Amino acid sequence: MDNRLIYLDNAATSFPKPQEVLEKMIDNYSRLGVSPGRGSYDLAMESAELVSQTREKVANFFGASDPERVIFASNATDALNLAIQGLVNKGDHVISTRLEHNSVLRPLSHLQKEIGIEVDLVGFDQWGKASVGSIEKAIKPNTKLIVCTQASNVLGTVQPVAKIAEVAAAYGIPLLIDTAQSAGHVPVEMSKWGVDAVAFTGHKALLGPSGIGGLVLSPELDVKTTRFGGTGFESRSLFHTQSYPYRLEAGTLNVLGIFGLAAGIDYLQKEGVEQAHQKEMALIKRLYEGLSTLPGVKIYSPKPTECDVPVLTCIVEGMAPEDVGSILDGDFAIAVRTGLHCAPLVHADLGTDEQGAIRFSLGRFNTDADIDQALQAMEIISSSR
Ligand SMILES: Cc1ncc(COP(=O)(O)O)c(C=O)c1O
Repeated sequence: MDNRLIYLDNAATSFPKPQEVLEKMIDNYSRLGVSPGRGSYDLAMESAELVSQTREKVANFFGASDPERVIFASNATDALNLAIQGLVNKGDHVISTRLEHNSVLRPLSHLQKEIGIEVDLVGFDQWGKASVGSIEKAIKPNTKLIVCTQASNVLGTVQPVAKIAEVAAAYGIPLLIDTAQSAGHVPVEMSKWGVDAVAFTGHKALLGPSGIGGLVLSPELDVKTTRFGGTGFESRSLFHTQSYPYRLEAGTLNVLGIFGLAAGIDYLQKEGVEQAHQKEMALIKRLYEGLSTLPGVKIYSPKPTECDVPVLTCIVEGMAPEDVGSILDGDFAIAVRTGLHCAPLVHADLGTDEQGAIRFSLGRFNTDADIDQALQAMEIISSSR
């Protein structure tokens, strides 16, 4: 085995970033890294123009109709907080799933405890999917939001969000989807599916830097402002502007992150998403099939299909996942994520909540050789039990 790190933790963050993305981001920031639109000088205008072009790119990428409703935030967590706290009030009922990341579960739990909302979390089946029928059954007269992840960060399964959107629309309930694990792997068609709000993060399969993400809203959905501050205009008013996108943005934007996000989306559009996704899914299938033959390895992810994302979760029976992760790193230079992956309810339902599990997650730069080496390493580790 060579000394190169085999990075199989792309669901945490994609690594490495394409050189082209890094160069474009630094180049634009070196030339235009001033506060966008806050001054009347040319450079501030040019910087603002690039920010607004990025809103257009994001809207286009997610199939949204209005770039003014692309709100920049720090990451998916921040965007989900903005949406959930801005949509839900005391006494409201929210439906979500047990597949969610803590970035959905925790805002809901805090609102439940602190202002008094009702929350129903729908389970998932043996294929790692939340049932649309169960979501519909959970709807009550005071249901004000349905929020669900598009792809599980533990199982890699993609949820039927277009069907969930149909149900939500039939009852007039807004649907917010978390695309942290799906954007950049599988299509997100906001207008076509009738999804009302999309939370995204820039640093995973969108190939941008950490610290940038956002919320995309349909023109029909208004989200209450929950953070207040400077926007660079209407400065005389002591109240936050209510026009989009600034209604939900307060303070100086992460311009470097926005330039990086734009470069990441440009890269994806140039290099293609579908082909890379097919390659990733072929690799994760090979990993799945190889691991399935190893005695003592128990896989929790369902068999991957073309519609899923390249994530596989397993354990080596009789060994702590954390120890397997350390051996993979120390002896084989393979980086994976172990533990609960910030999705405690999935692990509770899989029965892996005590020690967690081992998660392999692939990206567009992984190769056949990476999978061969991971399989060899897992064979050695599992036979040494
Ligand atoms: C499904 C899911 N949602 C949300 C997040 C949060 O993303 P971020 O840390 O970029 O806010 C993650 C991160 O791993 C995730 O997997």
